[in-house]
Amino acid sequence: MRIDVLTLFPEMFSGYVGQSLLKRAIDAGIVDVRLHNIRDWAQGKHRQVDDRPFGGGPGMVLRPEPVVESVEAVRAQAGEAGHLVLLTPQGRKLDQRIVEELAEKPGLILLCGRYEGVDQRAIDILQPDEISIGDYILGGGEVAAMVLVDAVVRLVPGVLGDEESNRQDSFSGDPPLLEFAQYTRPREYRGRTVPEVLMSGNHPEIARWREEQKMQRTRERRSDLLGDDPAERRSDV
Ligand SMILES: C[S@@+](CC[C@H](N)C(=O)[O-])C[C@H]1O[C@@H](n2cnc3c(N)ncnc32)[C@H](O)[C@@H]1O
Repeated sequence: MRIDVLTLFPEMFSGYVGQSLLKRAIDAGIVDVRLHNIRDWAQGKHRQVDDRPFGGGPGMVLRPEPVVESVEAVRAQAGEAGHLVLLTPQGRKLDQRIVEELAEKPGLILLCGRYEGVDQRAIDILQPDEISIGDYILGGGEVAAMVLVDAVVRLVPGVLGDEESNRQDSFSGDPPLLEFAQYTRPREYRGRTVPEVLMSGNHPEIARWREEQKMQRTRERRSDLLGDDPAERRSDV
């Protein structure tokens, strides 16, 4: 999978791209991450990428020309592998279903906003898939892009090594349940022991226990995943 990132702060990605799962996927040639500085497409002596909002108000807005032209240039390089995503708090909210959908794409172009956001005309021209990582405001799209890359890359075949671990993760099934509790050595820690069934070697029993755990945890912690309406629950209190 090819991933192009358009940002004003490409250096923010260097630590992340050089570590752990993503680094292994890059080294193995499974994922190809390319960073582009939007400022390289800015015009004029000062290469200004932002300006004051028309109509007044605080902050600055990303000008349309460097945004549109940088995306067009990267799209031309990426060809088919160029599903364009704009990270924005106003997009559809990222969840595991969307992550699965994006992991099917041959490639992604991730556009990171800054300041008060991107001039609306750039969005209208480029027609990106607008994605939010949650109902809160970040200083820029870079951390959101890293969240998205992190979640998508682990679903790309060959990245995790053990694809089974994807299938049992929280939110992965239908309905999307939370995962069961996990334990490792030692068998006892500060007086707390591992559930007996996990030590039994009885695999059908272990599978049953885990399925029960998933349902119980989901009911207790995230009944909305089972179709429960949290607003209704609040009004019951
Ligand atoms: C300070 S925010 C701009 C927020 C904008 N003024 C608004 O109220 O919708 C700057 C940039 O951070 C990124 N960003 C902020 N919150 C985000 C979120 N929850 N999900 C994805 N990107 C986000 C976007 O790229 C956005 O353009």
